[in-house]
Amino acid sequence: MKVISLINQKGGTGKTTSAVNIAGRLKMLGKKVLLVDLDYQRNLTVSITGEEFENTIFNVMANRVPISEVIHNANGFDLIPGDIKMRKLEKEIEDRVFKELILSKSLNKIKENYDYCIIDCRPDMELKEKNALIASDLILVPTQPQLYSLEGLDILQGFKEEIELEMEKKIPLKIFCTMVNTRANNPMEIIDYLKNEYEGVMDSFIRHTVKLQEAPNERKTIFESDPKGNGAKDYTQLVEELMHGGWI
Ligand SMILES: Nc1ncnc2c1ncn2[C@@H]1O[C@H](COP(=O)(O)OP(=O)(O)OP(=O)(O)O)[C@@H](O)[C@H]1O
Ligand SMILES: [Mg+2]
Repeated sequence: MKVISLINQKGGTGKTTSAVNIAGRLKMLGKKVLLVDLDYQRNLTVSITGEEFENTIFNVMANRVPISEVIHNANGFDLIPGDIKMRKLEKEIEDRVFKELILSKSLNKIKENYDYCIIDCRPDMELKEKNALIASDLILVPTQPQLYSLEGLDILQGFKEEIELEMEKKIPLKIFCTMVNTRANNPMEIIDYLKNEYEGVMDSFIRHTVKLQEAPNERKTIFESDPKGNGAKDYTQLVEELMHGGWI
């Protein structure tokens, strides 16, 4: 199982939308995918199902409930739901030894059951995000195509480097642009600029489309709600680039 975390220290950059639709594409390719909603706002959970869940990510991380008991089949996805109680996770587990490794150790127990695990993170850099990064084989950073959109990335990079040193493993980090307005002045120019400034910027990008905003209202991925549109094309291309490059 490859673990992919969608993370960015900025809010509203397309993490949740990308988590759902990358998972949707992988599922179409016949892959077994587990989605993990690490955000206490539960956007990922709500965008694929209207169900309420008793057993959530909080139960795994704070109460030592076995991970297999919190995996739910929701609208065709295997999902570990988010939980508002995750807001107080840090306090709940402050005295645990190896508290940064809880998620990684739990996911390890089910690694034979899935091809991919996709973790939707919050725009925080706290204990739960540390847990996600430690568990990850790839960090995916969605960003807007603006000159200063990646300001603050060094915080995430620093975090990543610390983990790499401590865990003695390298975690690749890829950056891609979302909500790209192709009618604006030369979005490609900014993508090229970002490529010069930062390592790991991808060629693929996701165009701005209202369809990507509407799909969660119907609890659908873009592949179900608008399979021939730009959103489906762009997420297909993104997953293709990640696979072709051997990143996932
Ligand atoms: N390619 C796109 N085109 C148009 N709208 C988009 C696109 N991607 C995401 N959005 C919209 O932008 C908003 C933010 O996206 P999303 O919730 O995926 O970001 P996020 O990074 O998960 O946010 P948060 O930091 O709050 O968790 C949502 O309303 C979403 O529907
Ligand atoms: Mg989100």
